[in-house]
Amino acid sequence: MSEDHTRVQEFFGVRAADWDRKFPGDGPAFAAAVAAIGLRPGDRVLDAGCGTGRALPELRAAVGPSGTVLGADLTPEMLAEAAQAGRRAAGALLLADATRLPLRDGCLDAVFAAGLIAHLPDPQVSLRELARVVRSGGRLALFHPIGRAALAARQGRELTDDDMRAEHNLRPLLSASGWEPTSYADEEHRFLALAVRRP
Ligand SMILES: C[S@@+](CC[C@H](N)C(=O)[O-])C[C@H]1O[C@@H](n2cnc3c(N)ncnc32)[C@H](O)[C@@H]1O
Repeated sequence: MSEDHTRVQEFFGVRAADWDRKFPGDGPAFAAAVAAIGLRPGDRVLDAGCGTGRALPELRAAVGPSGTVLGADLTPEMLAEAAQAGRRAAGALLLADATRLPLRDGCLDAVFAAGLIAHLPDPQVSLRELARVVRSGGRLALFHPIGRAALAARQGRELTDDDMRAEHNLRPLLSASGWEPTSYADEEHRFLALAVRRP
């Protein structure tokens, strides 16, 4: 277990029990983000950094009973809350690092990641790993139910030019990691960047 992993687990471990109560109004934004991926019945989708599994029911609804939904997270307490909330009914929960996934190359149609990339020590390595497990032409959605400016204000920090999720930084990062960026939205109540796995 690396120091970065321990830091993530300590940070989110103590927040897990209150996570869903803290953000009660996010449901519609999650639903709209999942709809934007364009999943089809039977698709296989991973929620990377799934936390308490808030997106899992929407992902299951999108891929239907014949599809596969996986939720992977590094923090056991987040997964325990997901299980407690009954989200295993929507998808399988994996205690796993998004940077070293226990999945075969190209086995997924899409990856959804909400609030994950800001917590990755080396985003390029992790985005490459997500590209590894997605088939050519498959999709990636990097989402946050709040825009960058509003999040920075909530966290009491200034939004700077080197912010990794700024379009001028994220596009080259995605391109260098096996993804073709296809759309970018940074609004008050939504951050959503979509990309397609390059052949
Ligand atoms: C901001 S929370 C978002 C949780 C959930 N996606 C949501 O939107 O409610 C970030 C989550 O990413 C997880 N995480 C951070 N680094 C990770 C990694 N390398 N692999 C897997 N999960 C990670 C944390 O444990 C945490 O649950």
